[in-house]
Amino acid sequence: MVQTLDKLVSLCKRRGFIFPSSEIYGGFSNTWDYGPLGAELKNNIKRMWWRRFVHGRDDVVGLDGSVIMNPRVWEASGHLENFTDPLVDCKNCKRRFRADHLLDVAGIKPELGTMKHPPKALKECPECGGELTPVRKFNLMFKTFIGPVEAETGVAYLRPETAQTMFVDFKQIMDSMRMKLPFGIAQIGRSFRNEITPGNFIFRTREFEIMEIEYFVREEDWEKYFEHWKTQMERWVHDMGISAKEFEAVEISEDERAHYSKRTVDFEYKYPFGQKELYGLAYRTDFDLRRHAQLSGVELSYLDPETKKKIVPHVIEPTWGVDRSVLAVLCSAYHEEQAPTAEEGETDMRVVLKIPKNLAPYQAAILPLSKKDELKKFAEPIAAELRNSLVIDYDETQSIGRRYRRQDEIGTPYCVTVDFDSLQDKKVTVRDRDTMKQDRIARDQLTKYLKERLHV
Ligand code: GAP
Repeated sequence: MVQTLDKLVSLCKRRGFIFPSSEIYGGFSNTWDYGPLGAELKNNIKRMWWRRFVHGRDDVVGLDGSVIMNPRVWEASGHLENFTDPLVDCKNCKRRFRADHLLDVAGIKPELGTMKHPPKALKECPECGGELTPVRKFNLMFKTFIGPVEAETGVAYLRPETAQTMFVDFKQIMDSMRMKLPFGIAQIGRSFRNEITPGNFIFRTREFEIMEIEYFVREEDWEKYFEHWKTQMERWVHDMGISAKEFEAVEISEDERAHYSKRTVDFEYKYPFGQKELYGLAYRTDFDLRRHAQLSGVELSYLDPETKKKIVPHVIEPTWGVDRSVLAVLCSAYHEEQAPTAEEGETDMRVVLKIPKNLAPYQAAILPLSKKDELKKFAEPIAAELRNSLVIDYDETQSIGRRYRRQDEIGTPYCVTVDFDSLQDKKVTVRDRDTMKQDRIARDQLTKYLKERLHV
């Protein structure tokens, strides 16, 4: 596991995973772009999720909703009223802080609502010692305007969570897909929150992606399905290459839960900057369907075929942050270890990303020993063949040792070396990223050999 976040940030930039957005203009307010390898890793995570939870189940269907929804959605969901963070400003240096974070740092349990006499931590700026303003509520939703005039009548919001689409489209999906309880609606999409203190690389940003399921159940079954999804999430964390000691499932107390939740378990990961939320699992009761039915006037119920009674389903909501998944995978995958060099008996330090093989940006790299034409002629058709079914890199620059190190650093599970012997025996050398063991494989068996090991 990586020891400091700086090491990971530097690797991500150096190797084209993630870098500051708009960097030629000096960056912009903790925004990040996923480079070629970051985009591959992120897409692999999303693909694995969709494959497992949508295609892999007969009780979940997918959805792709819009970011800007009718503003009444946010009235019904409670976001207009409740989706706030407590905020203080420094009157001197004008810096802005989250009050609950200041209390956290001071070791005080944040119970802001009941705090009559604020402690020193909420009166004095931690940066310059200046006076802080009283605590104010700050709504995290990004506001925008529909149409050319910036008038109150045209106000709309960028969605702060994907969940609401699943509730407002509930009837549409029931009608068109003939779903029977229990069933789920899944979505992967961007969400936007005007976070007061974004930071820690891609951990807290203002624009991020969520993978989310709203799983509709009969009220009496909620505990059973809560446990079901908890197990599914634990399995998922394991399959992301995260060991049991790197995360903890934490029961969230009533005063810390979101306004809609009757039970929440957070999956917290031990990031280099501390143990914090990775994923969440909530029992949202029938809060959302009831509120939308109330405000829209449209009945959002389910006719139970067994009892012939109409019921409002209850909801279990497992939620996975995409960007935090990328961060956790990278943190857990990062290893520094002594490894033999090309020189007999010598070792040096190698950085290797032991990313689960199915998630790695490249599944294999083709490395001809030199740029000579005869090797090219042998290696290029191999690359072309592998490209039909795998994502591969072709690299013929620098020494083979340096190329191995480069592929280790980006987590490529297999390096395929083509040397001058290959021209005679029609075999190639396949090196395993983790064990560094090398196998000599017949050229015509290569695709099969790799696909078997990559499970594709
Ligand atoms: N529908 C429930 C919901 O949105 P949430 O815990 O507020 O729950 C879901 O957010 C997930 O999104 C979190 O578990 C986390 O992984 C991720 N997330 C939340 N805020 C984020 C931010 N500012 N930056 C990056 N990821 C974030």
